[in-house]
Amino acid sequence: MDQDIAKPQDRLAAWLASDMAAVNELIRLRMASEHAPRIPEVTAHLVEAGGKRLRPLLTLAAARMCGYDGPYHVHLAATVEFIHTATLLHDDVVDESERRRGRPTANLLWDNKTSVLVGDYLFSRSFQLMVETGSLRVLDILANASATIAEGEVLQLTAAQDLATTEAIYLQVVRGKTAALFSAATEVGGVIAGAPEAHVLALFAYGDALGIAFQIVDDLLDYGGSAQAIGKNNGDDFRERKLTLPVIKAVALANDEERAFWQRTITKGDQQDGDLEQAIAIMARHGAMEAARKDALGWADIARSSLAELPAHELRDMLRDLADYVVSRIS
Ligand code: IPE
Ligand code: IPE
Ligand code: MG
Ligand code: MG
Repeated sequence: MDQDIAKPQDRLAAWLASDMAAVNELIRLRMASEHAPRIPEVTAHLVEAGGKRLRPLLTLAAARMCGYDGPYHVHLAATVEFIHTATLLHDDVVDESERRRGRPTANLLWDNKTSVLVGDYLFSRSFQLMVETGSLRVLDILANASATIAEGEVLQLTAAQDLATTEAIYLQVVRGKTAALFSAATEVGGVIAGAPEAHVLALFAYGDALGIAFQIVDDLLDYGGSAQAIGKNNGDDFRERKLTLPVIKAVALANDEERAFWQRTITKGDQQDGDLEQAIAIMARHGAMEAARKDALGWADIARSSLAELPAHELRDMLRDLADYVVSRIS
């Protein structure tokens, strides 16, 4: 495909191809275990299915953009993908999901115990990888991000089924479960490159805003996307009675009848055939999806403007385009 019209993440992948090949090789090497054959079976199932590799691309791009020419950006990129993969294994257990990356989930193919334990294994492997960089600051950032992701997932658990969940709580959940890893991914790239503090801060702000936009879009796709395109089943969030942004917006504007609908389906969890379609119709009536999409565009804007702090670079332009692209998945 012509470089100019390719998707920004493909352009990033092309620019960073040799780095990314090294990351994939490192992931392949470190996801195995000689002692427990179940581990490589599960990790290969998930890793070979691909995934967009967005987070490692962010780390590599940030490091290269800041002039890094050592070896450790590869370790850090593999680290963030391992953390990501570990959280997916755990998340699919928590969400009782059956499809991921176009394949049946590990919890479905094996079982919950396997997913939890292999997820723990990948987390531990990620710690080994980051230690090899010898940078305490990087360890600090990634250890904090891991804790924040878990907090976000637990906060979401307690906010689920609660119609009183506000947009502020939603933002806190999303910042935790998703944006924390995006911002850590970009921040450690800058840190390993020894970039000036203002640049590291800008990279953090970019990752944070991009991650929020990304999750809002993911939540919209759960109601509107095709299972084929997203590689996961849609309707999972409704079934799990999650208060995602479009639902929060629709609940805030609900009339009595709609409120009764949300109470039955979300609070009580009494869901019947046709309820998902009904939820989508109610949200559409209030322009809730459109409003959530506007919020995502706002965060993409913040991501883009954060990059203004950074010196001109081809990779910086690709990151800018990536911010638009992330939201265009639902435009
Ligand atoms: C899935 O992330 C989890 C969310 C934060 C929504 P991705 O959509 O980046 O997952 P893969 O790695 O491409 O499968
Ligand atoms: C994504 O959670 C964040 C993590 C995996 C920590 P979701 O539950 O919203 O993401 P999907 O839809 O399963 O990918
Ligand atoms: Mg999930
Ligand atoms: Mg989840």
